[in-house]
Amino acid sequence: MLKDEVLKLLKSEDDYLSGQRISTLLGVSRTAVWKSIALLKAEGYAVSAVSNRGYRLLPKEDILNRRELEEGLLEKGLNIKVVYEERTGSTNLLAKENAGSYVKEDVLFVAGEQSAGRGRRGRTWFSPGGEGIWMSLLLHPQMESHKAGMLTLLAALAAAKSLEDLGFVPGIKWPNDIVLGKKKVCGILTEMSADMDGIHYVICGIGMNVSTRHFPEDLAELATSLYTESGRLYSRKEIIADLLLHFYRLYPLLLQEGSLSSLQKDYEGYLLGKGERIQVHGAKGTYAAMQGGINDRGELLVYDEEGKEHALLSGEVSIRGLYSYT
Ligand code: BTN
Repeated sequence: MLKDEVLKLLKSEDDYLSGQRISTLLGVSRTAVWKSIALLKAEGYAVSAVSNRGYRLLPKEDILNRRELEEGLLEKGLNIKVVYEERTGSTNLLAKENAGSYVKEDVLFVAGEQSAGRGRRGRTWFSPGGEGIWMSLLLHPQMESHKAGMLTLLAALAAAKSLEDLGFVPGIKWPNDIVLGKKKVCGILTEMSADMDGIHYVICGIGMNVSTRHFPEDLAELATSLYTESGRLYSRKEIIADLLLHFYRLYPLLLQEGSLSSLQKDYEGYLLGKGERIQVHGAKGTYAAMQGGINDRGELLVYDEEGKEHALLSGEVSIRGLYSYT
């Protein structure tokens, strides 16, 4: 059958194969190739499809769907509802649209691909099909709304720990960029709905580049993936389960204490740039400073040229100097 021929070709190729190339090699039409790919997907093969590049077969253990994800989480003792979409605009948006249906329950929204992945500061987030973890955790924390930013640091800490469990040596660029070498591998976008009475919900969106081999030109110098760093492929569902296990071990501490006091030292163990010269860009202008650690509210401590300490609030300032992607 044609689909078996297509499967053989995909198995023999480590990188993407264009639909055109498959149709030429097998002497069939593009539509026939497309139909075969659909059949393979229906059989459970994880075929990543990326526009302008073609198709690639993902390892069997990397198949993502709601059942696989929920089972993986349950194995870690985490009973969390998962909503999985093969393709969506943005999982943060998906979580927002569905938040009304889950007013108390934590829910994990995961996508195979995001067509309009969103980053911090209005940037886009490159989220090709099957190549990374694109997920958003819907939370209902009982805390004052001005403290919600600490969840971002907590998610960064959980992500760093999950990478450490795989043998990587991750660093965190405050507040929430996870870095391998000098390049960013994971980013976090936390969004909140709140009013005078408090928080309705928080959406913690996490993006991690797992098997990406080629980044667009503008990202090539700034971004990396687990594959690029190690030459190995990893199971996304295992990383997700491990990351959430770390998250849910740390989360109660933040809720009980209303601060990062128990987690501050742990976070600082991953913090990059301590003692280095940086540029602070904020509402009050730009100034040179020396970076310190964080306080128990998750604010970054910096020291200006007179040695005066400033506590920087995430979202209000950006720091430059360490990594070119900032
Ligand atoms: C950053 O700019 O560092 C934040 C990137 C956050 C990306 C993730 S991917 C899953 C979730 N959905 C989105 O649209 N963005 C976040």
